[in-house]
Amino acid sequence: MEDSTQMITENNNLAETDVIADLLSSLPKEKSWQSGYVYRYQGFWCPEKQIPALIAFQKHFRAQKTDTILVTMPKSGTTWLKALAFSIMNRAKYTPSCSPLNSVNPHDLVPFFEFGLYANNQIPDLSTFQSPRMFATHVPYPSISDSIKNSGCRIVYLCRNPFDNFISSWHFLSKTRPEGLGPLLLEEAFDSFCNGHGGFGPFFDHVLGYWRESLERPEEVLFLTYEEMKEDINYQMKRLAEFLGCPFSLEEEADGIVEGISKLCSFSNLKDKEINKTGKSLLYFENKTLFRRGEVGDWTNYLTPEMVDRLNKIMEQKLAGSGLKFKTGL
Ligand code: A3P
Repeated sequence: MEDSTQMITENNNLAETDVIADLLSSLPKEKSWQSGYVYRYQGFWCPEKQIPALIAFQKHFRAQKTDTILVTMPKSGTTWLKALAFSIMNRAKYTPSCSPLNSVNPHDLVPFFEFGLYANNQIPDLSTFQSPRMFATHVPYPSISDSIKNSGCRIVYLCRNPFDNFISSWHFLSKTRPEGLGPLLLEEAFDSFCNGHGGFGPFFDHVLGYWRESLERPEEVLFLTYEEMKEDINYQMKRLAEFLGCPFSLEEEADGIVEGISKLCSFSNLKDKEINKTGKSLLYFENKTLFRRGEVGDWTNYLTPEMVDRLNKIMEQKLAGSGLKFKTGL
């Protein structure tokens, strides 16, 4: 495994599909919840198509100190975080009524490294991106480019309790996987999630990687939770703005700017935009699949007591001694 990785890292031509094929054939794999496989690469389960993109990202991306990287496990509220961070950073340019979010999906405003910029054997020219730049990724901490770790740039991590994360993923992948594959059975998907095989998982490794970094370098890594954002979005937005180096002034607060942005980015507002009802973003699926219920605790409608018990036990064991606790909506 190490040898094949090295071969690709030293080889500029990522289009060399036989090199990628050699690498893939050397890696453990599991059936993906969508089509194809996820491969155990650099310690996490990476979807097949994202492996070349990850290699290119690690090799070519050069972070700047002024960059912000938004990181999540899939289905943890990435779309919401992109909308909020974009709006906070660009509030001098766009009031909510003239925000691009009224006609553009958040994923087209803050690109992913592995699904967008470096996907399909592309090496993007980022010199055209105006500073401060904002990017997103699902890649776990150990595998994000060294350049990000060493540049002093900002990382914002948003996590979500594993119960809701799982149910949201199951719904999303059920809707977006090829019809020919048949339904994605809840029990099978749950077993796979518990075994850590979901894309970019194991879930707890992903969360703990960024959690520990946020404790060690709080000025460079901000750790947010979906549940706390649902509880008090305005407070969490102020934390985010402060972390991003653009705190809301007292005048802005008095003018209702914080509430204006939180309303603009709210689930109900974004879900109802035409672009999010009928459009497609640069990603591979319809935008409407990104907006389902947007609540904490929906898992209680799906998981059996045995499933809850199993995941609770895993959670207890994985989080022991970490200081991290999830609010699950109970
Ligand atoms: P549910 O499936 O539980 O409804 P991601 O953006 O990482 O793909 O996460 C998708 C989840 O976030 C979905 O959860 C979706 O409904 C929810 N979501 C999308 N936009 C949101 C928003 N503006 N506010 C709150 N939740 C949002």
